[in-house]
Amino acid sequence: MNQQDRVLIVGAKGMLARAVRDAFSSRGMEAVGVDVPEIDITKPESVAGVFDRVKPHVVINCAAYTNVDGCESNRAIADAVNGHGVGNLAEASRSIGATLVHYSTDYVFDGSLRRPLRPDDPVGPVSAYGQGKLLGETLLQKALRGTNVAWLILRTAWLYGPVGPTGNNFPQAILKAAAAGKPLRVVADQFGSPTYTADLAEATLTLLEKRSSGIFHVTNAGQTHWADFARAVLKQFSVDYPVENITTDDWKKIKPDSATRPAYSVLDLSAYERATGKPMPSWQDGLTRYHAAMKAIST
Ligand SMILES: NC(=O)c1ccc[n+]([C@@H]2O[C@H](COP(=O)([O-])OP(=O)(O)OC[C@H]3O[C@@H](n4cnc5c(N)ncnc54)[C@H](OP(=O)(O)O)[C@@H]3O)[C@@H](O)[C@H]2O)c1
Repeated sequence: MNQQDRVLIVGAKGMLARAVRDAFSSRGMEAVGVDVPEIDITKPESVAGVFDRVKPHVVINCAAYTNVDGCESNRAIADAVNGHGVGNLAEASRSIGATLVHYSTDYVFDGSLRRPLRPDDPVGPVSAYGQGKLLGETLLQKALRGTNVAWLILRTAWLYGPVGPTGNNFPQAILKAAAAGKPLRVVADQFGSPTYTADLAEATLTLLEKRSSGIFHVTNAGQTHWADFARAVLKQFSVDYPVENITTDDWKKIKPDSATRPAYSVLDLSAYERATGKPMPSWQDGLTRYHAAMKAIST
């Protein structure tokens, strides 16, 4: 990536896209952002129109259908956006030689391997969301692997960061529920790595600066389960409120149509660290900086 490169962020109104745009701005680079209705990645002609107009050197795809439970009942939309939409972006990137960065998920794994997962570990998604995201990975590689166009698939997990007025994320949902006095029963048998969007955005730019290509796992370092993450959020925001540990089976009784999630999806970061020479900050450190960012926004 060069300072003069034209950067296109797709899905620009989303949570991660906000952080990616900020990371480019902090380097003095202005990115062009597009989202629906200006672009619909499920339509090749819509993608071609935007690429024709912007002529990007680097495309960052933050667009996705991210409602994991919603994907179960809307499988066709999940595959169209998270699968074929990515294929459309990859074909368009190949045709103009643009570097393509795409975000995927820990939910491409089934969660049965109880050690941090490496990029080349066997995948086996257990949800419609994970299956759609894996289709996207497959179509991207079909279009770009073996060409001289650089590409990155960054698998990440448990993202949170500042969102727009209508957006939501896990910390905000926990804080809102506590403020409303609702009981907090949170799953304590799914393990992963909460990841602050600003840290993922920074890592993305670092990989681009290193001219890396391929699949990388990028999350904050360390691991926890959802209930302890909820406790950490409450503590960080100085809210004294109880959290009850429940199991995934308990949650299925409360919300029977929720998607199955991997019980263990901690990602091994060593490929990222080798490529960049940089460690990822811990999830606790990410949460501390998220708190500071939210305080700055609200004052
Ligand atoms: N959030 C997580 O915990 C998490 C975890 C692992 C991986 N990821 C991955 O990280 C990436 C960013 O996630 P995020 O949470 O920042 O997503 P997000 O906030 O849901 O943003 C996604 C954006 O894409 C837009 N979009 C949806 N369909 C589109 C289409 N057909 N064409 C163009 N844009 C479309 C959405 O618009 P509308 O809102 O109008 O639909 C939204 O603005 C995604 O690839 C996601 O799969 C997220």
